Amino acid sequence: MKRLNKVLAHADIASRRKADELIATGHVKVNGKVVITQGVKVSDNDSVEVDGIPIFKEEKIYFLFYKPKGVITSVKDEHKRKTVMDYFKHVKERIYPVGRLDLNTSGVLLMTNDGDFANQMMHPKHKIEKVYLVKIQGLANKKNLRPLIYGVKVDGQKTSPARYEIIHINADKKTSIIKLTIHEGRNHQVKKMFDAVNLSVQKLKRERYGTLDLTGLKPGEYRKLSRKEREALGYFFKVV
Ligand code: URA
Repeated sequence: MKRLNKVLAHADIASRRKADELIATGHVKVNGKVVITQGVKVSDNDSVEVDGIPIFKEEKIYFLFYKPKGVITSVKDEHKRKTVMDYFKHVKERIYPVGRLDLNTSGVLLMTNDGDFANQMMHPKHKIEKVYLVKIQGLANKKNLRPLIYGVKVDGQKTSPARYEIIHINADKKTSIIKLTIHEGRNHQVKKMFDAVNLSVQKLKRERYGTLDLTGLKPGEYRKLSRKEREALGYFFKVV
């Protein structure tokens, strides 16, 4: 369910503030009835009209994007830095990122204009696995990594159990590469988890998101997700 003013803004009818005015002045109908109260929520199944004209609803679209390093996961940036949206200039639908990756993190990022899909992917109850390849400063061993399995305190809250695999250790440079599998998606979670075991992250890449990995893509490239792939993530579009 989305707020009516947001739906109107999303359909390019007006800004949210203007949309509130249109609603208050009786221009908007939901399922054939004029709605003048603010804060009304509508679903994709409700029909919305402005001055008798049904609003255009975009087709739902889903992308798997290989986010490069040095790009902001944001729809806009006040400082005019490169954002993930710069890679989707030819896509006319109003897509946005599902969750976020830090500026210097690369890897799998989903992009969509389907709010239900985005919410479902991000909701902790769905426990979607995310696999990260993490380069850390320091020598990893069972002793210093073991707390990650049981959960460490991040922002005052214990993380859910994680799995790790030591992929490579460079004894000369004193760096290690670890594969970490988690299913939460808190802010800077991986970096904070390693901070909690006194190891600092130098490089981070999200290799897998649920059933999706980066096969066939180079940094900055993307491809559409098929219905089968969305279903494999546990998402079933509600057909009305
Ligand atoms: N965890 C982090 O610390 N950063 C990311 O970009 C993703 C997960």
